[in-house]
Formats: sequence, C-alpha cells, structure tokens
Amino acid sequence: MLSLRSVSALAAATAAFVGVAADPYNTFDGDGFPACNEVAAVHNATSVDEIVSLVKEAAANGTPVRASGKGHMWYDTMCSDNPATVIIRTEFVNGISNLTLEEGAESGTVDIEAGVTFLQLAEYLHEHNASMGYTLVNWNITMAGAVAMGGHRSAIREDSMVAAGVLSMDIVNGAGEVVTVERDETNEDWLAASTSLGLLGVIVRMRFKIYPDFKVFAMQKTLEEDEVLDGDIYGMIAPYATANFWWWPYLRKFHWRYYDKVPLTLSNQEGFQNTFSLTEAEAAVAIATLESGKYLATSNMFFETTAFALWSLPNFKEKSDWSDLSLKGWPVYGWNYDVLIGGLYPNQKPEWEYGLHGKTLELAFPITRANDMLKRVRELFDAEAAKGIIMTSTYRSGINIKFGRAHYDLLGQGTYNTSDGEDWSKGAIMFDFPSFKPSIGDGLRFHEEFYINLAKTLIDEFPARPHWTKNTREVFGNATKNLDPDHLKRFKAVREKFDPKGMFKSIVGEILGMYD
Ligand SMILES: Cc1cc2nc3c(=O)[nH]c(=O)nc-3n(C[C@H](O)[C@H](O)[C@H](O)COP(=O)(O)OP(=O)(O)OC[C@H]3O[C@@H](n4cnc5c(N)ncnc54)[C@H](O)[C@@H]3O)c2cc1C
Ligand SMILES: *[C@@H]1O[C@H](CO)[C@@H](O)[C@H](O)[C@H]1NC(C)=O
Ligand SMILES: *[C@@H]1O[C@H](CO)[C@@H](O)[C@H](O)[C@H]1NC(C)=O
Ligand SMILES: *[C@@H]1O[C@H](CO)[C@@H](O)[C@H](O)[C@H]1NC(C)=O
Ligand SMILES: *[C@@H]1O[C@H](CO)[C@@H](O)[C@H](O)[C@H]1NC(C)=O
Ligand SMILES: *[C@@H]1O[C@H](CO)[C@@H](O)[C@H](O)[C@H]1NC(C)=O
Ligand SMILES: *[C@@H]1O[C@H](CO)[C@@H](O)[C@H](O)[C@H]1NC(C)=O
Repeated sequence: MLSLRSVSALAAATAAFVGVAADPYNTFDGDGFPACNEVAAVHNATSVDEIVSLVKEAAANGTPVRASGKGHMWYDTMCSDNPATVIIRTEFVNGISNLTLEEGAESGTVDIEAGVTFLQLAEYLHEHNASMGYTLVNWNITMAGAVAMGGHRSAIREDSMVAAGVLSMDIVNGAGEVVTVERDETNEDWLAASTSLGLLGVIVRMRFKIYPDFKVFAMQKTLEEDEVLDGDIYGMIAPYATANFWWWPYLRKFHWRYYDKVPLTLSNQEGFQNTFSLTEAEAAVAIATLESGKYLATSNMFFETTAFALWSLPNFKEKSDWSDLSLKGWPVYGWNYDVLIGGLYPNQKPEWEYGLHGKTLELAFPITRANDMLKRVRELFDAEAAKGIIMTSTYRSGINIKFGRAHYDLLGQGTYNTSDGEDWSKGAIMFDFPSFKPSIGDGLRFHEEFYINLAKTLIDEFPARPHWTKNTREVFGNATKNLDPDHLKRFKAVREKFDPKGMFKSIVGEILGMYD
C-alpha cells in the first residue's frame, strides 16, 4: 500500500510533470499556515537581474507573480487564488552597499537589496558605527517586505514607519523594467509606492536613511487599567523616541514601555531584548497550558497571570556574556537595535518553532479616539464576563498597543487628510491582538465568536484601518469601507500604470477593488 507521503510525492511529481503543482506557500508558521493556498513554483532568486528576468518571463506567459521575503505574515492573503502563481523569494538577493555617513553628519544613506533583513542591516550598520534609527520592525523580516506592507514600529515623536526611512526605491514593474521612485510627497508614484502592498511590482532595491550609532534605555512601569483608559495616552507616548503599552485584560493592568537615546558613556551594559525566544522547557509549559485553554478559561487565566509576572521583569540578557538581566530591574541600557528589537538567545528557538502558533488582528485608529476605543474593548470583555465567560490575553506579551507617527501616503495606516473627517495628523494608535491558536479539536480559539465580534465592532464603530499582513480576508472586506475612496482611486491609477495586466495581484488588492 502507498503511504500518505508517497502518495503526495507521487502527486507532486505528476504535477511537476504536467507543469501545475498545487502546493501551498506557507507563512513562517509552516505547514497548515498558507500565505498562498496554491502556487505553481517558488524561485529562490539570487540577483536583481534574475528577478528582472523572472518577471519578464512571467509577463510573457501571463503568469501571476508575487515577491516574498521571510513569510512573516499571518493569513492566506499574499497571492490571489490563482494556482498558476509563481513566488519569487528574495532571501538570497541581499547585498548592502554604498554606506555614506560623513563624520559629524546627522544622517547618511545605505543601499540595500530586496532580501536584506532588519537583523542583517542592523548588524552591518553597528559594525560601521551606524544605525537605522527607529524605522524598524522585528528582526527576521525583509525591509522590502515590511515597506511593501506598511510595517511600523511604535512611536509618535519619531518617524517609525519603515517607509519613512526610504529615500528611493527600485521597483520591477509588470513589464520587467526597473523603475526608480524617489521620495517626493507631491508625486503620486511615491505616495503609492510608500505602501504598495506589492501591487506595483517587486521592490528590488532601496536607498535607506541611516544615523550615527547610538545607545538607548528601555524603561517599563506597570499601570492600573484606569490610568490608561482614563489617562492622557498621547502624553504618555509622544515624549519618548518610541513607546508602547501591553494590555493584560484579565488582570486589568497595563505595562508601559518606553525607550530613548542616552549618551554613549552612560552605561557599559549591552542589553539584548527577546520577544519570541524560548527554551524547550518554557515552550512545553506554555503549550500544555494554552492547549487546555481552548476549553478551560482557568488555564487562560493562569497563563495570563504567569505571563504578566514574567513580562514585568526585563526580557533582556547582557550580550557580552549572555547573563540574565531579568532580575536586575529597570531601566536596561544597550545599543539601539539590540534594545529596541534584539532577537534570539543562543541555543533557543522562536516560539513558533516549538508549535506555539497564533492568530492576530491589528487595527489602527486616530490617537484622538484612543480612550474611546480601549474603553469599548473593555466593554466587550465585560459583556463576556457578565455571561460567565472570562476572556484573557493568550499571548506571551499581552495585547500589544502600538502607536504610529502620521505619515502621508495613499494606503498607509497612519495617513491623514482622509475623507472620514477624523484627525489622524496627531498619529495613530494600533490595537494588535495576537492570540493562541490551538492545534486540538476544531482548531478554533476559546470562545472564537468573541474575536469575530470584537473585530466587527471596532471596524463598524470606529474609522479602523487594517494592518496589511495581520488580518483575515473577512477583516479586510469589512474594513475597506473605512478607507478614503479617493486614496483607493489614486492608488489604482498608479497600479494600472505600473502593472497594466494585473500580474502582481493579491487577495488584499482584490478586496480593495484594485482590479474591478
Ligand atoms: C513575529 C512577527 C513580528 C512582526 N512584527 C511587526 C511589527 O512590529 N510591526 C509591523 O508593522 N509588522 C510586523 N510584522 C509584520 C511584518 O512586518 C510584515 O508581515 C512584513 O510584510 C513581512 O515581511 P517578509 O519579508 O517576511 O515578507 P513576506 O511575509 O514574505 O511577504 C509579505 C507581503 O509583502 C510582499 N512582499 C514581500 N517582499 C516584497 C518585495 N520585495 N516587493 C514587493 N512585495 C513584497 C509579499 O508578496 C506579501 O504580500 C511582524 C510579523 C511577524 C511574523
Ligand atoms: C529556497 O531556499 C529555501 C530557504 O533556504 C529552501 O528551504 C528551499 O528548499 C529553496 N528552494 C529551492 C527550490 O531551492
Ligand atoms: C551612494 O549614495 C549617494 C547618496 O547618499 C549617491 O549620491 C551616490 O550616487 C551613491 N553611489 C552609488 C555608486 O550608487
Ligand atoms: C567606530 O568607532 C570606533 C570608536 O570611535 C572606532 O575605533 C572605529 O574605528 C569605528 N569603526 C568604523 C568602521 O568606522
Ligand atoms: C530567519 O529565517 C530563516 C528562514 O527564512 C531561518 O533559517 C533563520 O534561522 C531565521 N533566523 C532567526 C534568527 O530566527
Ligand atoms: C492636508 O490638508 C491641509 C488642509 O486642506 C493642506 O493644507 C495640507 O497640504 C494637506 N496635507 C497633505 C500632505 O496633503
Ligand atoms: C464582517 O461583516 C459581516 C457583515 O456585517 C459580519 O457578519 C461579520 O461577522 C464581520 N466579520 C468581521 C471579522 O468583522
């Protein structure tokens, strides 16, 4: 008898033979987590020229194409549902060149290729006494992938959208031509390219703004829920270079984290943060607790209480000897990227490699509506509690409440002057609610309806804008009404110019009406 494995190997071989393979292309979460449900081929490009020829070939054959960096996204929204789609992976096209930072200058530039990750650029810059400032997100993600999808850190005072660090970018358009788009807010091409959703073509190179290297502190305080819900949220975030909250809804508490620059000589500490790094033993306890939390609210309550206690301590190690800084207390000092992002500790793995998988929802609101929005979420938690259902955070670091400095473009979450009449110019608050996805039973979360109702309520009652890689198709569908129709129309015009045949189509682009 044929085993399951040999049946699928046979199917794959047959499919390859007839030229149509029906394999999914997965996100960082791996099997069972498709970014694209079916693709025909995945190419590991090794140069910009190769990307150009792959696009030209696809254009000649009428084949849909999507670029992919590290697959650090959550749902099946990368491609369209066309099984002829070809993926161009950029991982191996990762040159860094032309670092220009004059002695004493406030800023400089560096040229990077599509597959350069934040981690890679941060290490390179640090070796050259430079840094990328605050225009960064998590580590094992390509800068081009983050720019394409409007990725951002959390800051009001400083530029924090990754695209805000881009001075120019080269895009391979639907004809396989390399088009250079310079930063220029009066140019529609730039305003579309700044959050392109990959619909204009493959971003193959960027000129990125850099700064002299610097050190920062990280400080954290615990607040009662009322201090945030009734507090001056803008006033707690805007004074710092970068700041965020983490919400622990069962405990009714917040962590308030903020960072800022310090003199190089203030401390010798070299703190290195981790957000996803776990030992095998830690992962085993988390999985056992969270899987049982699919059925038992008490497991989730225990999880939130434990995670909160751990997250109250510095999630940092000293990089020079990897000693633990968790009991040293706040603040922690170190080099900017290590403190702001960090990465994995030696001999540990990211949580998803142990089978800890998540779902998420991320929506942006004008910061002027921050208190109303958080109070509305509190009401939804309380409404469940009144029915005897206790909802909690099921994520290691709670519910992530981030912020974004206003950044003008067509499809960015932090754009302003939009037809909704809301004041986005003071910045945005982002509600980023990751939750544990059980692997048992039907795979749905504890009281799944709560999450659906929460999304629907926020989208219908507020001018919520979706993060472009952290939401389901259904959320995108419902949130499209909150986007400025004029921005969508202007984006579509640029899309039609760059990609008249629609070969870079994605589910997100289709939902936004870019191909109607
Ligand atoms: C653990 C984790 C932490 C994260 N943290 C943050 C965060 O702090 N802030 C934030 O805003 N986001 C965050 N994200 C989301 C992440 O920034 C985006 O999903 C980003 O697009 C992923 O980039 P990637 O290189 O992995 O690209 P992929 O996941 O491979 O692709 C994402 C999308 O971008 C398109 N794309 C990729 N490369 C290119 C290119 N060169 N040209 C054109 N289109 C391209 C793809 O077609 C796809 O539609 C996080 C994601 C994960 C998994
Ligand atoms: C492309 O690279 C990835 C990551 O290194 C690897 O897993 C995959 O097998 C490669 N694909 C091909 C077709 O070589
Ligand atoms: C290097 O970057 C500078 C801008 O900082 C630019 O003027 C110069 O042309 C670049 N050199 C090359 C070889 O691309
Ligand atoms: C970085 O700065 C240090 C200390 O000022 C100096 O010794 C070193 O040569 C510099 N490195 C580079 C690559 O500029
Ligand atoms: C980054 O992702 C690649 C796969 O694309 C993986 O091989 C590598 O181990 C990851 N690095 C870190 C630091 O997680
Ligand atoms: C926003 O609108 C104001 C008032 O109409 C206008 O002065 C300003 O130039 C606009 N800003 C952008 C970036 O379009
Ligand atoms: C989207 O809207 C539909 C119609 O109102 C609703 O039934 C559904 O629950 C909503 N889903 C989400 C995730 O918002």
